Amino acid sequence: MLRQVFAAMLRPIRIGVKRCLNVLSQGRKPSWPVTQALFMAPRSLADLEPDEGLTRLRAELMPMPRPRSEDLFSLGNQRLPCWLPSDEQLADDWLLSRDYYPLYHNLFKLISRGAAEVRLLEIGVRTGYIGAVFVRAVECRRRYIGVDPSLYVRDGLQRAERTLVALKASGGDIEFDLIEGYSTDAAVQRTLQGMPKFDIVHIDGDHTLTGKLRDLDLARHLVARSGVVLVDDATHVPQQCGCCGAGRAAPLVSPRRLHSSEARPGATRTLSGGLQGDWTKDGAQ
Ligand SMILES: C[S@@+](CC[C@H](N)C(=O)[O-])C[C@H]1O[C@@H](n2cnc3c(N)ncnc32)[C@H](O)[C@@H]1O
Repeated sequence: MLRQVFAAMLRPIRIGVKRCLNVLSQGRKPSWPVTQALFMAPRSLADLEPDEGLTRLRAELMPMPRPRSEDLFSLGNQRLPCWLPSDEQLADDWLLSRDYYPLYHNLFKLISRGAAEVRLLEIGVRTGYIGAVFVRAVECRRRYIGVDPSLYVRDGLQRAERTLVALKASGGDIEFDLIEGYSTDAAVQRTLQGMPKFDIVHIDGDHTLTGKLRDLDLARHLVARSGVVLVDDATHVPQQCGCCGAGRAAPLVSPRRLHSSEARPGATRTLSGGLQGDWTKDGAQ
């Protein structure tokens, strides 16, 4: 019924109502930059000027030969733990598409060229495919930090951890940290802000427009001056994320740091207390 009333409204009124709902969807603690962006978003995305650096990067990236996803996610004759056989059956085929992980692989390769260390923050880890692609693509010292509330693939972070442990054991200067929690958790944000800046921030968590804008607002405080922020599905705003349901009202979980390879290489820690002062059992102080 509400849908029908909405559909019958004049277009400018529909747009106004939608934007107001978007702004209200920020919840109890609205952020001013996000509010501004929610009012501008549709027009400003259409008006984006092509960036010269990005145009050059694209010209180099597109002709590069791409590895196969099957090879990126295998070690020896075995699939890495991030690989879920059920992901092979998905209609949009993102797991095997040469335009997805193989392209990310080459992008990470280009971005890391000549660097001594590359630090990547990923918001939305799921089972760790991007973590695997990143550590395979980059040859210098690499640091992967992932944040995920672990709601939609129950053992997603454990899979990501086992994947990264296996790749680390196969060689290379790899450290990683997996943080269980939402990017919007105050404790998660404080922890990220206490870390050295990131060369790459990959936003792939809450796929709603508000969620992506919030993550962008966070990313601008975390990214290095010459760093890059990548937003998955940047111009596609589903009601609900197809692969995991992100965008639903999600139950709150306490942020936990599941794994810190820097603190104890190769060790898993499921913490209810904390590695750092502000990590409490009940989440943000
Ligand atoms: C599309 S999947 C991520 C896929 C992953 N980047 C990859 O390429 O393999 C989205 C993930 O985001 C997580 N998520 C949802 N909201 C989040 C938030 N606010 N902060 C961090 N992660 C979030 C979900 O639990 C889910 O695992």
